[in-house]
Amino acid sequence: MNCRSCSRPIEPFMSFGRMPIANGFLLPEEFSQEYFFDLMPSFCTHCGMFQIIEQPDPGMMFHGHYAFFSQTSTGMCLHFQSLAESVIADCLTINDPFVVEIGSNDGILLRHFAKSGFRHLGVEPSANVAQVATSNGVNTISCFFNTATAEKIRNENGEADVILAANVMCHIPTIHDVISGIRLLLKPEGRFLFEDPYLGNMIEKTAYDQIYDEHVFIFSVGAVVNLFQQYDLEVIDVLPQPTHGGSMRYTIARRGFHRTTDRVEKQLQKERAIGLHKPETFLRFKENCEQSKKELMKTLQHLLSEKQTVAGYGATSKSTTIINYCGITPDHLVYISDTTPTKQGKYSPGAHIPILPYTRFSEKHPHVALLFAWNHAEEIMAKENRFRQSGGRWLLYVPEVTILS
Ligand code: SAH
Ligand code: TYD
Repeated sequence: MNCRSCSRPIEPFMSFGRMPIANGFLLPEEFSQEYFFDLMPSFCTHCGMFQIIEQPDPGMMFHGHYAFFSQTSTGMCLHFQSLAESVIADCLTINDPFVVEIGSNDGILLRHFAKSGFRHLGVEPSANVAQVATSNGVNTISCFFNTATAEKIRNENGEADVILAANVMCHIPTIHDVISGIRLLLKPEGRFLFEDPYLGNMIEKTAYDQIYDEHVFIFSVGAVVNLFQQYDLEVIDVLPQPTHGGSMRYTIARRGFHRTTDRVEKQLQKERAIGLHKPETFLRFKENCEQSKKELMKTLQHLLSEKQTVAGYGATSKSTTIINYCGITPDHLVYISDTTPTKQGKYSPGAHIPILPYTRFSEKHPHVALLFAWNHAEEIMAKENRFRQSGGRWLLYVPEVTILS
């Protein structure tokens, strides 16, 4: 296997074992045909790109019944409103600008541009979520973004002033085709802003649940610099974000068109200080994952032996890695509650734990709730304060296995 960024040979440094499609919630009649692959992370010692070795075909993950709808979290709605406001103020002050978003999902971000009357276009291959965006007045085409799509958009609309992408660049294995497309579509002085879960936060928190089929890459600033410089594109700014348990926003532009902020060099120095370029860091991460798994299973076994009812909270994609790597079964978790209607009534990928509406959780609290949507902890714990008041306990596993009474 060769690195998807620099083409040098890479090897896995650990295996999480056989994994199903992380968002592949399913019905009992589909259990026998469930697809599995080997989830093995790797780190390129040449360019620093963290990636998984094997990834299922994109068409198996993104299709007409994709389970993830961005607007299920109020916190994320507010986050994208603030991103839209800053892009409008900083980048769209010229006459009749054009904004493109890659992976626009249900329109969580682009709706703010649509509402303010900006020319905009979302590119979203999962037809069901794209349909939600379209019905809310967000211009969307349903296809994968690549060089051919970029060319078509440019021919029909002209060049883009800004291209945006949130939590999608890390999904795309054919990253060179995407960057060629971005270069083709973007005005010479245009800017490409994208944000994704950040490798530094994942390592620091042992948040190994960021590693699943969709996340073919977990980026660091060093690896992103090395990737884009192959196209004479430079990282002109980076800004850490609290979303998804710790993300990084990157601003990219053609070399020489914009000033680079000091934040880029500072973050690169930070990455060297925490050893993000060293294989030892990833071997330590592997040990931390194994330790975390042992502690979580010990805690769940203990709760089971004490006859405590434990339910999962949030049927996240991340939970698929935790559940299947740790060996959590329907004996440990009676159900997982989730607000997404299309997940309810189905079963979790791999372990087949029932997914129930969140109303089930509030009607009859379990003794303990395993918080799979830990990245939304503040929003969820505020909403569910009755759970703790009535004696319920939250079980967390990031950054450490902990029970909050
Ligand atoms: N931007 C949203 C959605 C992130 S989920 C948010 O941050 O909440 C990733 C989305 O990217 C999915 O809706 C998926 O269908 C889409 N996607 C995956 N590969 C893509 C590609 N090659 N081009 C455009 N969108 C893609
Ligand atoms: P997220 O961490 O964004 O998911 P992923 O790991 O797939 O990126 O969490 C979103 C999931 O959590 C989604 O299925 C909805 C669910 N959820 C709840 O059930 N209740 C809540 O209060 C929130 C914020 C999310």
